[in-house]
Formats: sequence, C-alpha cells, structure tokens
Amino acid sequence: MAIRVKTTRRKVFEHDAPLRVVAVLGGRLSEEGQWLNSELDGLLERVIKQTRFKGEFGDSLFIATALGQVLIFGLGKRRGHTLDDLRLAGAKVAEAVVERGVREAAVENFFLKRFGKVEATEALAEGLYLGAYRFNRYKSGVPEPRARFVIAQGFGPAAERAGVVAGGVFLARDLVNEPPNVLNPVELARRAEALAREVGLEVNVFGPEKIQDLGMGAYWAVAKGSDNEPRFIELVYRPEGEPVRKLALVGKGLTFDTGGYSLKPTPSMTTMKGDMGGAAAVIGAMKAIAALKPPVEVRAYVAAAENMISGHAYRVDDVLKAMNGKTIEVLNTDAEGRLTLADALAYASQAEPDAIVELSTLTGSCVVALGRQIAGLFAADEALGRAVQRAAEAAGEKVWPMPMEPAYKHLLKSEIADIKNVGTREGGAIQAALFLAEFADAPFVHLDIAGPAFAPSDEDRPYGPGGGTGFGVRTLVRWVLDQA
Ligand code: BES
Ligand code: MN
Ligand code: ZN
Repeated sequence: MAIRVKTTRRKVFEHDAPLRVVAVLGGRLSEEGQWLNSELDGLLERVIKQTRFKGEFGDSLFIATALGQVLIFGLGKRRGHTLDDLRLAGAKVAEAVVERGVREAAVENFFLKRFGKVEATEALAEGLYLGAYRFNRYKSGVPEPRARFVIAQGFGPAAERAGVVAGGVFLARDLVNEPPNVLNPVELARRAEALAREVGLEVNVFGPEKIQDLGMGAYWAVAKGSDNEPRFIELVYRPEGEPVRKLALVGKGLTFDTGGYSLKPTPSMTTMKGDMGGAAAVIGAMKAIAALKPPVEVRAYVAAAENMISGHAYRVDDVLKAMNGKTIEVLNTDAEGRLTLADALAYASQAEPDAIVELSTLTGSCVVALGRQIAGLFAADEALGRAVQRAAEAAGEKVWPMPMEPAYKHLLKSEIADIKNVGTREGGAIQAALFLAEFADAPFVHLDIAGPAFAPSDEDRPYGPGGGTGFGVRTLVRWVLDQA
C-alpha cells in the first residue's frame, strides 16, 4: 500500500504541502497553528470564530487558503492525553486526509513537548498509518489510497519504526480481509512463503501426509472435511549469533469456520473468514520482527484448515488423538479451533521454547464477556502473563486478564477419552483456555481475540476501517522486543 509517513525538521508552515494539519487544544490554536495563522493574516482564527469550532477531540475543520488547504484538528481538553489518544488522533487525521483524496499532508507533531520527540513521533506516525489503511482490492475502479504524511519537527527513526510495525499490521489486515474462496489454507501458506522470501525468514510447510505422519490427529480431523487441503506453516526468525531466548508464537488459522456438522446459523457464519485472525497476527508480527532484528529466536506456527461439512468431515462423538498422545472426545464440531491448536501447541513445545504466546479467535463467550475491543488474556504462567499485558498496554492494544480457574477443569472430563472439547456454556472462554493449556508444554499465554480481530463495522474498532484489524501484531512485536 502506498501510505508513507516521513518527518521533517521544519515546522508545519515552513513545509510546502497541499494540506497542512494543525491542532486546536483546549479551545486554542496550537503554537504551530498560530504561526500558520499569522502567515495567513489571521484567517484561521477568524474561521474558527465564525464557525464556532470548539475543537472537541476528533473534530475537524477544513479551510481552503492561499497557502493550500488547512485541516484544523480538535484535540479536546488541554490536559490528560495519553499516547493512545495521540495514536487515535493520528488515525482520525489520516482518515480525513484519505477520504479527501489528498496526496500529501504536513502534520503538526501534536504532543512533541509532552511526550518527547521519540514517543510523540512514533505514536502519531503509527496512528497515521493505521487510519489510512483501506482494502479496495475487490472494488472495481477504486484504487488503493496513496498518501504521504510529513510530521513536522519529527524524529525520523521513530516514524520508520512505526512504518515497520504498520507493515506487519497491514499484512495481517489484508490476510483477514481476503475472502475465504481466495484465502484458503493453501493460499495462506503461499503468502507465508512469499513473505519468507521477501524478508529472509525460514519457512516450512506441511501438507496432509506429513500432518498425519506427525500424529496430529486433532488438527487433521478438523481439516479433512474440506476439499481445500490443510497446510501446517512454520516461520522461523533466527538472529545473528546465539539467541538470548527462544520464543514461539502460535495463531489459530481457520480460513473459514462453518461450524462443521454443529453448523453455525448464517448470522454467526458471516465474518468467519476472520477465523484466521490469530494466524494473521503472528505472520504480520514475523514480518516486522524480520525487519527489527531482535537478538531472540522466534518461531511462528499456524495449523491452517477450513472447517467444512462433507462425507469425510469429522463428527460429534468422534474420539481423536493429538500428537502429544492425549485423546479428545468431540462434543461439538464448532469447537474446532482448540483441536487445531492442540496439535500446533504440542508441535511448538517440541522445540522447547522459553515461552509460547498463542492468539486465537477462539470463543463467542469471550466476546460476550469483554466486547468487541478487548482481548481476553489467559496466563498459565503468571510472569509471562504480566509481560504480555505490559507489552499490550505499551502497544495500545486492549487486553484484560481472565482466570485460568483450575476448579473448572472437571467440566472437561470425558466419559470415554482423556478430555472433551467442550464443557458447559458458562465460562466457555475459560474452559477453552484450560483445554489449550493441556497441550502446551512450556510457559504459556493464550489471547482470545475473537472480539477485536474482526470489526463487523467501522464503528467497532479504534483505528482503520471495518474488517480485519490486525489486532495482536503490535503486542507481539513489543513483547518480542522486550525479551531482548
Ligand atoms: N471461531 C469461533 C469463535 C468466534 C465467535 C470467533 C465469534 C469470532 C466471533 C469458534 O470456533 C467457535 O465456534 N466457538 C464456539 C465454541 C463452542 C462450540 C463451545 C462458540 O464460541 O460458540
Ligand atoms: Mn467454531
Ligand atoms: Zn472457529
């Protein structure tokens, strides 16, 4: 996508661009705004007065002037802004610019003094990228947005870093937004291979034979009902020299989830192309990690499959055997994610990582509990849980800790096998997490991203349009960098 965020040492009024963006903070034009205002003989102040522009957070006012267009952007009250607010402001500015089809905008570095040039530039740049994203591939005659943002008095390396992270988020969003007839497991593997070639990662892909040979009976059961073959994908990033730690990322990769014979009703089935949001997040994160080159080894795993109905699909009442030897009674074919993840986690554990962080659009139960913008964080290892939570906070992604309640383990007891794939409805997200923990043989954190991975409409998400959000990429990148 042709979105670029650059920096200049110059001020907004000194930088020649068809559009300039300055702020109103606490009802007053910013210093940058005042400079521009005097260049324009007080025009900005006059229009602000005439239109009674209050500058509530997110409000914007466009003015055509002799020096080109000016966008006055409201930042709300004087005090109390966080880096999250700054990201959000960047995203809203980008949306306004992209919707107008403007090719270049010089943007005031809104909170340069408050946060310092590094943090201020990075958060603003990140917001600009995330808000400018569009997915127009299947709209005839609608081009991808092209826009260049120049942050005034900005710090170049911070904008560059934001660009790398945004590149990972954009990839994750694209993967989720692709329709399921295009992005089946085979195509997902192809895209992972293309990424590996592009950025220099190692990649290993297994098909049906290898999946069965490895004893991935739970994953295979889910996959075998579809005519689109499954692909098990492993991406490896190796640092130069001995890695200081070995980390594993696992993502749920259901390219479509019909529910199988426990069929979903149509309203629940729409958006199920997004059931590979976890896979998209780990693949997107690997793209950024490959560019940022931390001194740790990172392996990403995706057991990609499609949950379909056919004469060779798995059934309710089937008993499966995962690659760690545990047997699973199937009580609901729509609890398929945990089956594919059981084998992905067991496989990831074999490399003896220091930590496994797994992301999945796992349960509707978690969406009921936390809504559309917050992921559930389930930590089998407390210290790891805290580290991931800190990374999410720093990255500006919302997660909330949920209990891995051992008293609920008995709900997964099976009459016939070691464990069953669903328990009761109450606390469903917790039971799902407890199930997964049985297959991870390393310090383990599970993020249930069923809510935030996919935004059914533009209103359901903080940055960017509806559809795939790329949730998790920024948290994973932070967490990995923190491990160095
Ligand atoms: N992919 C769904 C979970 C989901 C729901 C993701 C809503 C995004 C939005 C998952 O495979 C699923 O179907 N889970 C079932 C589990 C149940 C059968 C125990 C659910 O949540 O209903
Ligand atoms: Mn399902
Ligand atoms: Zn699913």
